[in-house]
Amino acid sequence: MTVHFIGAGPGAPDLLTLRGRDLIAACPVCLYAGSLIPEAILAHCPPGARIVNTAPLDLDAIIAECRAAHEAGLDVARLHSGDLSVWSAMGEQIRRLKTLGIPVSVTPGVPSFAAAAAALGAELTLPGLAQSLVLTRTPGRASSMPEGERLANFAATGATLAIHLSIHNLARVVADLTPAYGADCPVAVVYRASWPDQRILRATLATIEAAIPDGIERTALILVGPALAAEGFDESCLYATDYDRRFRPQRAGGPGHG
Ligand SMILES: C[S@@+](CC[C@H](N)C(=O)[O-])C[C@H]1O[C@@H](n2cnc3c(N)ncnc32)[C@H](O)[C@@H]1O
Repeated sequence: MTVHFIGAGPGAPDLLTLRGRDLIAACPVCLYAGSLIPEAILAHCPPGARIVNTAPLDLDAIIAECRAAHEAGLDVARLHSGDLSVWSAMGEQIRRLKTLGIPVSVTPGVPSFAAAAAALGAELTLPGLAQSLVLTRTPGRASSMPEGERLANFAATGATLAIHLSIHNLARVVADLTPAYGADCPVAVVYRASWPDQRILRATLATIEAAIPDGIERTALILVGPALAAEGFDESCLYATDYDRRFRPQRAGGPGHG
């Protein structure tokens, strides 16, 4: 018996991995994290599966579900939105399950930042402009931020920022970032990336607050940085005609010529 943690992706049911789908189909118990998991993903559960929305449960109750399944010898599919490596609360669940001797596996999912970038048709690391992407958030009711992880500190790098769990804090985001990025720095807010009601709002740090209509709350990602609206960036060396690389050698005797 194993508890399989599965990243269910950003929303669109076909952005689930094949491995995730097959595991869901093989597990007689499915615990899923609330409304961000679409019904169509739950439809992969086998007939008669026990399907539990864990949004109203506390950690003790979630672990009790896993323990009961363990004692009955039933595999569990544990679904969280996006990928599990960021803001999934998987860490604390795995720690408890390990203490109980319950085996776990982890299957990655498409994270929301990737779905948002896809919606924008944007590469977030453009040559000469930004070569780093910071996945971060602002403090929330349940989570404070470590002292060094202030938005202003990340802003000092000039990297592209993907700011999660913060659309309600937009005024603070703008105030913290404007000194380093400048008021005309491009911003994109992607609401419910990959869902049928997805919305994209593009503006600058100066104009983004006014550009957000009512109803854009919770499931939205704020992307900030010069890469977001750039046209005049360098081309990468990767596909340059005169760039010598392993699979496209320029010189006789180079790699691939023996
Ligand atoms: C608890 S975190 C979960 C992150 C998730 N594990 C991931 O890989 O993206 C929830 C936050 O992720 C972002 N988010 C999740 N799904 C999203 C989507 N489909 N579109 C835009 N933002 C999304 C929002 O910032 C939301 O407040």
